[in-house]
Amino acid sequence: MSSIVLFGPPGAGKGTQAERIMISTGLPQVSTGDMLRAAVKEQTPTGLEAKGYMEAGQLVPDSIIIELIRQRIKLPDAIDGVMFDGFPRTIPQAEALAEITDVTHVIAIEVPDEKIVERICGRYSCSNCGLVFHETFNPVPESGCTCGNFEEKRRADDNQDTVLSRLSAYHEQTSPLAEWYDNLGIFHRIDGDRAIDLISTDILEALGN
Ligand code: AP5
Repeated sequence: MSSIVLFGPPGAGKGTQAERIMISTGLPQVSTGDMLRAAVKEQTPTGLEAKGYMEAGQLVPDSIIIELIRQRIKLPDAIDGVMFDGFPRTIPQAEALAEITDVTHVIAIEVPDEKIVERICGRYSCSNCGLVFHETFNPVPESGCTCGNFEEKRRADDNQDTVLSRLSAYHEQTSPLAEWYDNLGIFHRIDGDRAIDLISTDILEALGN
């Protein structure tokens, strides 16, 4: 089993690009953020423990995240590899990942901090199909969402205060992973401050697709 990692600050466009890469590579998207939000909604023990960290814009403890991933990759769709979105975010998470799968590419989507708040605070999604949009940069088409049943949803942690905490967590705990993966020769930097289609083209090229 070999996998790829989408890496980058909050709001860099990992989820947006994951939708497209999934279509081209066939790899299922494994987003720890989505898994945690589902656990919070269902009020599972994991969700109840994670909720406070997420609302505060802090990282959820490694033990919880690693267990979530261990369970997720046992599912049949993960047999040929997956595309991790927002995982790993700490060195212990990367160490755990190295024990369970061979990571072939880490795609780092780079966006300057000053663009992040604007991106996060303008984000909304379709609660029916999960597609992500932006008020200014990527609005839902006038014809409506492709699922045909658009209903707007906003994330509880998409506000200015929480974004700043999430950015701090990224710089302090996650960005050291760039050097870790660079030393392994599998780290690909992509300029994420461009049109969505141009970024997708560069990512697919880095993946050899
Ligand atoms: P998570 O859900 O992973 O959030 P995140 O990393 O903060 O990333 P986002 O989902 O906010 O952004 P994205 O990069 O996917 O951007 P998107 O494509 O939506 O994590 C949430 C929380 O869960 C964390 O804070 C933490 O508490 C916890 N957690 C999750 N994983 C964890 C882990 N491994 N360890 C510990 N804790 C964990 O795009 C953003 C917006 O920009 C959208 O509106 C989009 O339309 C727009 N956009 C996208 N691309 C472009 C572009 N090129 N130009 C203009 N606009 C664009």
